[in-house]
Amino acid sequence: MADVTLEALADEQRSFPPSPEFVANALVTDSSMHDLAAADPEAFWAAQARELLHWDRDFTTTCEWDLPFAKWFTDGQLNVSYNCLDRHVDAGHGDQIAFRWEGEPGDSRDITYAELLAEVSRTANALKELGVVKGDRVAIYMGMVLELPVAMLACARIGAAHSVVFGGFTADSLRDRINDAQAKVLVTGDGAWRRGGIVELKQIADEAMAETPSIEHCLVLRRTEQEVAMQTGRDVWWHDIVPTQSTECAPESMNAEDLLFILYTSGTTGHPKGIMHTTGGYLTQVAFTFKYVFDIHPDTDVFWCTADCGWVTGHSYIVYGPLANRATSVMYEGTPDYPAKDRFWSVVEKYGVTILYTAPTAIRTFRKWGSEFPAGHDLSSLRLLGSVGEPINPEAWIWYSEHIGTNRCPVVDTWWQTETGAIMISPLPGATVAKPGSATFPLPGIGADIVNDDGNAVGIPGGGYLTLTRPWPSMLRGIWGDPDRYRETYWSRFDGRYFAGDGAKRDADGYFWLLGRVDDIMLVAGHNISTTEVESALVSHPAVAEAAVVGKTDDTTGQAIAAFVILRAGHDPSDALVAELRDHVGHAIGPIAKPKSILFTEDLPKTRSGKIMRRLLRNVAEDEALGDVTTLADPSVVDGIKGRYLTTASDED
Ligand code: WT7
Repeated sequence: MADVTLEALADEQRSFPPSPEFVANALVTDSSMHDLAAADPEAFWAAQARELLHWDRDFTTTCEWDLPFAKWFTDGQLNVSYNCLDRHVDAGHGDQIAFRWEGEPGDSRDITYAELLAEVSRTANALKELGVVKGDRVAIYMGMVLELPVAMLACARIGAAHSVVFGGFTADSLRDRINDAQAKVLVTGDGAWRRGGIVELKQIADEAMAETPSIEHCLVLRRTEQEVAMQTGRDVWWHDIVPTQSTECAPESMNAEDLLFILYTSGTTGHPKGIMHTTGGYLTQVAFTFKYVFDIHPDTDVFWCTADCGWVTGHSYIVYGPLANRATSVMYEGTPDYPAKDRFWSVVEKYGVTILYTAPTAIRTFRKWGSEFPAGHDLSSLRLLGSVGEPINPEAWIWYSEHIGTNRCPVVDTWWQTETGAIMISPLPGATVAKPGSATFPLPGIGADIVNDDGNAVGIPGGGYLTLTRPWPSMLRGIWGDPDRYRETYWSRFDGRYFAGDGAKRDADGYFWLLGRVDDIMLVAGHNISTTEVESALVSHPAVAEAAVVGKTDDTTGQAIAAFVILRAGHDPSDALVAELRDHVGHAIGPIAKPKSILFTEDLPKTRSGKIMRRLLRNVAEDEALGDVTTLADPSVVDGIKGRYLTTASDED
């Protein structure tokens, strides 16, 4: 697999060591932690668990591995909300700000650790009043308001598992997730602000709740203040029952393997899977990775993860990782272009953000909009940048480093999944020499390897399937209600290994390069070609902001490459540009990787979390009926592309 890419590409030669200024204050500056973990990974994780967390009862076993089921720290006991709140307040940090929240309309609110503890305790008591007990599931369907992490932590405090459903999902998606988890209570809001408009959360929730027999009560936060229907007996206002509760609520001491949350993921296809994460192992790895990947100095850093709490990134790096480390974080309610395309940079400037964690889709969009937007703001507070969600094209990495990091900040490209719970492959910013586009190396304590079709390790350099070779503390514990699907999906392809679904290669220096989902990899004239690499080659042309490529059936070559390209501001489509881009890819990778057709477009079909849905572009290229479009952020995009593809795509030979 990925044979074309084994030729060393120019990107592999570019390297970025951390600056001496960064190294001077970094937590990790050499390979000693990697070496320590490699000598005894279990002992390493046990030490991290004890160092980073408070255990009500210490554990005596570290990892029980009964493939594919792992348990970590099984007989240990702890409470996640205690670890995120009480212990910091008890240690005298009650006045430290936990969140600096910025509303989309421009309102804002700071909340300290002491205030957050009080609010979480009141909310936990309110949930109890609504009948929630340890072991129940609570669905949460909200916008990015402070009460969303509050509700999550309140569940954790009383031992109920939360299932956060992204506030952009439809009534059907919400209904299916509530029913699958058999949630007893739904926490929602009247509405959420988005790009100046209101998302009618309660109205959508009402539609969902028409068919969710397990729901007994719905707790409703007032935010957007439009009129909403309240069903007597079922629905209660947050402001009616939360503020009057006691601020005392004893944290439930949980077993390390008790369920902390379910989070549904569809990947990019198919029926959603309820990914289960438990208490002790999850919090250990999330706390560890947050501290060391982001080099957190809790007294001085201001961390901002721009994800939504509806995704795992929000769970792990807005809520649990930062709070377990007593960090101060920014939380922002709205979109990057409201009221203007510089909103992110004005937030960075306003709060003095030191560490920014965002997604390649956002970075490519900022690059498309133009560097004048960040240039208009003082970004000198930033000292570290992170990326997650997709392979970051080397050119987007460089732009991020130059225009946002002003060539001072290391960039950490972090590979992980909903299923892995926490970051798995990433630089340690004070120690790792980065290469733009590479997630570099597995973190200490993590075993990752690349194998071929037969499951044999491909060695260095080499390309194939990314697998994880041993259990890790924050690994998923299964799929809610479907152990067979768990085994089948993740553990059946390669004996004894977790298969992540991604293609990857290692270059001659051993660096890991993620090549995209293996379902997306193309087979052209007998060569496996990675969509990621062709897209990155296109994005490295100065006219291109974003690109998606797919394999399309071809009589001569089996598959031919069809490209969909968004241009940067100031560039126009032309036949000459098509020819130029084809040559550009030919030079970057090899003639075999030249796209056969290139269609210029204004938009690409993306999931609500920003991943390009190549499956739908394949449908377009093959002139087939479109498959499932329910996970699409904007379903009209693909119809528009389809119309234009059929009339204008220029096939060249
Ligand atoms: C898939 C997991 C991890 C939280 C957000 C996404 C892709 C993620 C990277 C990266 C290359 C990446 C993979 C992975 N992915 N991060 N740094 N480089 N690819 O979670 O929705 O569960 O998606 O996202 O394909 O398998 P998710």
